[in-house]
Amino acid sequence: MSVIGFDIGNESCVIAAARRGGVEVLLNDELKSETPAVVSFGEKQRFFGSAGAAFAAANPKSTVSQIKRLIGKLYKEVEGELNLLPFATSEGPRGGILIELEYLKTKWTFTPVEILGMLLKHLKQITEKNLQSPVVDCVIGIPSYFTDLQRRMYLDAALIAGLKPLRLMHDGTAIALGYGMYMADLSDSGPTNVMFVDIGHCDTQVTLAAFEPGEMKILSHSFDQNLGGRDFDEVLFHHFAAQFNEKYKIDVYANVRASRRLRTSCKKVKKVLSVYAEAPLIIECLIGDIDVRGSITREEFENLSLKLLERVMIPCSMALKDSGLSVDKLYTIELVGKGSRIPAITRILTMFFEKEPTRTLNPCESVARGCALRCAMLSPTLLVRDYKVFL
Ligand SMILES: Nc1ncnc2c1ncn2[C@@H]1O[C@H](COP(=O)(O)OP(=O)(O)OP(=O)(O)O)[C@@H](O)[C@H]1O
Ligand SMILES: [Mg+2]
Repeated sequence: MSVIGFDIGNESCVIAAARRGGVEVLLNDELKSETPAVVSFGEKQRFFGSAGAAFAAANPKSTVSQIKRLIGKLYKEVEGELNLLPFATSEGPRGGILIELEYLKTKWTFTPVEILGMLLKHLKQITEKNLQSPVVDCVIGIPSYFTDLQRRMYLDAALIAGLKPLRLMHDGTAIALGYGMYMADLSDSGPTNVMFVDIGHCDTQVTLAAFEPGEMKILSHSFDQNLGGRDFDEVLFHHFAAQFNEKYKIDVYANVRASRRLRTSCKKVKKVLSVYAEAPLIIECLIGDIDVRGSITREEFENLSLKLLERVMIPCSMALKDSGLSVDKLYTIELVGKGSRIPAITRILTMFFEKEPTRTLNPCESVARGCALRCAMLSPTLLVRDYKVFL
């Protein structure tokens, strides 16, 4: 029986397997632990994960990403967001979303669940290749704000992939479980309260958990469904689009290919600014034969992102309020999710909580690891240390 945890991200997916010696994160064919959440439909075949991402630039209209965002949503609910995606969509039966693309030189439509099913099947294949055995049983991470419909659709997608989830588990609970099971220095004088802040590509999730020897209790969950790394990319995108309009008299917004290239470059600029105080942006032949050049300092980026940065605090204070704890009762604030790498986020959290957040967990792997642990607890094949989880 397989003992697997899947973290399906809007940007990337991670697979963890529990074995006798502990939990291990599995590598894909490129020997990477993160597999892009991308399916690209070509003229002759489909490309998944890293291969799919490699085709995104050449084949934007038939490359599907950020599928998790669309699961269980009505077309009208996300119409604005759909316009930002490079592939075409339309309103389907009962107001759902249909993805329209070209595959095998023919026009096709797929539902988001079908695409998620394909992605899960790819992850299943990576897992089976690693373990050299069939994989069926698993635990899959989901955002704490998922509705019953979204949960059902995840189960439908898992069915398409030939997987049998023993549970769908809240991302924050998975992170807390991984933290709690390996936390060595727990005090005997009352619970150790930890706030987990997970900033991903599209959302922010906050979970507050209390740890005691041999058990953990989830005190509260909070979230902002629309605050993630991509919102910071958009800030840079609008900044440079306006700058290039003035400097080179070009309208990036009116050109799909130029918009996509500028967005990709903005993402890189954001990552450079997480390390350096200034980042350049150069794109050759952005529109026609116009080469564009610009640069931005970290300070300018932070000023442009002020509203987004302030929003990070909202789910944090909500989770704290719902738990009934005061700030001084928090042992630490643990940052996960790659979107949390923006230095200003650490700074703003430090100011609010009057202590610097910690990063003891692997920011990319913690959801998958926690899901694999949960799967091990539910599976008869592995003997797991007795650990109680109160939800
Ligand atoms: N060095 C960095 N500095 C700032 N942001 C970064 C850095 N590295 C990655 N990111 C951003 O982190 C986001 C991806 O984070 P993560 O992999 O945790 O998301 P995900 O789990 O795929 O998405 P979600 O949790 O929303 O489903 C992207 O927006 C990416 O641009
Ligand atoms: Mg995530």
